[in-house]
Amino acid sequence: MQLREAIAARRSIRKYFPQPVEPEKIEALIESARLCQSGHNRQPWRFMVLTGEQKAEVTAIMRSYYDLLNSQQQAGMSSNVSTARVMDEAPVLILVFRIPCSEDDIVSDTVSVGAAIEHICLTATDLGLGALWIRQTRFTEKFIAASFGYPDMQMISALAVGYPAEAPAARPRLGVQEIVLPAPEK
Ligand SMILES: Cc1cc2nc3c(=O)[nH]c(=O)nc-3n(C[C@H](O)[C@H](O)[C@H](O)COP(=O)(O)O)c2cc1C
Repeated sequence: MQLREAIAARRSIRKYFPQPVEPEKIEALIESARLCQSGHNRQPWRFMVLTGEQKAEVTAIMRSYYDLLNSQQQAGMSSNVSTARVMDEAPVLILVFRIPCSEDDIVSDTVSVGAAIEHICLTATDLGLGALWIRQTRFTEKFIAASFGYPDMQMISALAVGYPAEAPAARPRLGVQEIVLPAPEK
């Protein structure tokens, strides 16, 4: 698949077949992230690949936080519950962390980790896999990082990965004119 085909074909996948993902495909995903560019080549990303019980521990943490909220707070967090369900269904969950950095490097390192995540999403598409980039972990990210032994790292996101059991249509995007700002006349 050509790069631009993968960019056009990629979708957020929220339904997965239970079929496990071959270890060499997971390695290919991590390899594509490894090759990503980063500010000052700091390579600030770290990945943890979870399946089975370990994966279930992440969604258990998310659910126990949700259960502590009052009903009004819960109403505003329905997508947290639906995302946890997707995470349970996907055979693989990749936790994505940013290594500790100075205040000055936060933006650079965070966008670098984001770029590496997109490498994974595009490579997943190329390999016939589906992926979902997840930030609903943000409410519990400190607990998750500590529970998995890395309390000093900033959890940036999680990625659900597996064989897609849906083929969603392209989601809407702004037009080019809407995203290119006119440069002021000088
Ligand atoms: C930073 C980021 C965080 C996201 N977090 C979630 C999430 O927690 N749960 C979810 O279902 N989708 C999440 N998504 C997926 C977006 O909803 C999705 O990319 C968007 O609706 C466009 O759909 P598409 O990816 O199929 O083009 C996230 C995407 C990004 C880039």
